[in-house]
Amino acid sequence: MINGERTTSRPLRWGMVGGGRTGQVGYKHRTGALRDGTYQLVAGAFDLDADRGRDFGVNLGVAEDRCYTTYQDLIAGETGREDGVDVVSVATPNFTHFEITKALLNAGIHVICEKPLFFTVAECEEVAALAAEKGLIVGVTYGFTGHPLVHQMAAMVAKGMLGDIRIVDMQYTHGFNAGDDDSADAVKWRTNPATAGATFVLGDIGTHLYYLSEVVLPHMQIEKLLCDRKAFIPSRAPLEDHATVLMHYDNGARGRLWVSSVNAGNMGSQRYRFVGSKASIEWSDSHPDQLIYQVQGEPERIMHHGMPYLEAESLAVDRMGALHTEGLGDSWSNIYLWIAQAIDAKTRGDEDFLKTHHYPGIKAGTEGVRWLENCVRSADAGAAWVAYE
Ligand code: NAI
Repeated sequence: MINGERTTSRPLRWGMVGGGRTGQVGYKHRTGALRDGTYQLVAGAFDLDADRGRDFGVNLGVAEDRCYTTYQDLIAGETGREDGVDVVSVATPNFTHFEITKALLNAGIHVICEKPLFFTVAECEEVAALAAEKGLIVGVTYGFTGHPLVHQMAAMVAKGMLGDIRIVDMQYTHGFNAGDDDSADAVKWRTNPATAGATFVLGDIGTHLYYLSEVVLPHMQIEKLLCDRKAFIPSRAPLEDHATVLMHYDNGARGRLWVSSVNAGNMGSQRYRFVGSKASIEWSDSHPDQLIYQVQGEPERIMHHGMPYLEAESLAVDRMGALHTEGLGDSWSNIYLWIAQAIDAKTRGDEDFLKTHHYPGIKAGTEGVRWLENCVRSADAGAAWVAYE
């Protein structure tokens, strides 16, 4: 169980680029990072609007002279101080991730970056090489995958409790873009290929599904996929507001994934069903406390987080204990803690720890971008089956 006790050498001096007052995801980062005293927020270039960013930073408790106008100023200011930041989170629109991450790494600063990590696998590989050369960590905030029931699912699959995995069924949908008003800042950049990259919903929400499936099914690789995508609001084309992806895995399993932001009226968010030869499991972040476990020929079971009947891997990362809600904020806290432990190990030169330590890092970010590249290749070929590259 995680109880806030320190597991790293010292609190990390932490900064943020983006995630300002009007940013959608910034508070999730602060919720994750500031929970256990593992990080201290000491600097930021929080906002494109520098005055608003400074005012916001001061209200968060950051010293005014460490609320910077741009990320370049942040790097210049922080590298000039003895107590400069150890790590910076990048919570800005997609097209800025690559440039900001590279600049931070070149300045010797660890990075925690939003998904989708970059636009291309080639960019991911360049940054992986740079981080390795500098001895720095890149974490990626796939925030849902810290939940203890995700790790329960992974443990059940690893221990053979489902048998051989046959079917993977995943959905992340909402209806917030069912209308054609794309004027809000956060929608405007998401629906423009120059700022979002080659995808809208596939990258925005599909990468969460894909990474969670990698955590639960690390032994399975996609062999080929078919992606059919469409912009129901034509002005969003060539980006999609809806997509379905079929996947064939190397163990013979079949996968089906649906992402959409035009699923009018739907607030279901994410749903996962993993079907094996003996049993199935199903989890949704609408009811994150519960995992449905169905063994063929037996009554359905609903497993609750934090209960002693769960696997040790799940109980080890539980925070609230059974009876009390464990949700997205707790999951983000685990992700931030695991990345802090990776940074701490890297700083101590403990490569053995890093060999087995689980956290979403550069590889997870890269595989998300690789999956997107394959989806786009298939969709652009007229929803054709393509070999996974
Ligand atoms: P947003 O448009 O709501 O907010 C972006 C923030 O970054 C704003 O505060 C803006 O002023 C600031 N900003 C933009 N460019 C900047 C720059 N060059 N320097 C400093 N600040 C800058 O965007 P949102 O929805 O918060 O998304 C940001 C990133 O987070 C995206 O990559 C998105 O895909 C990802 N995201 C991830 C989620 C997750 O669950 N992991 C959830 C939502 C978004």
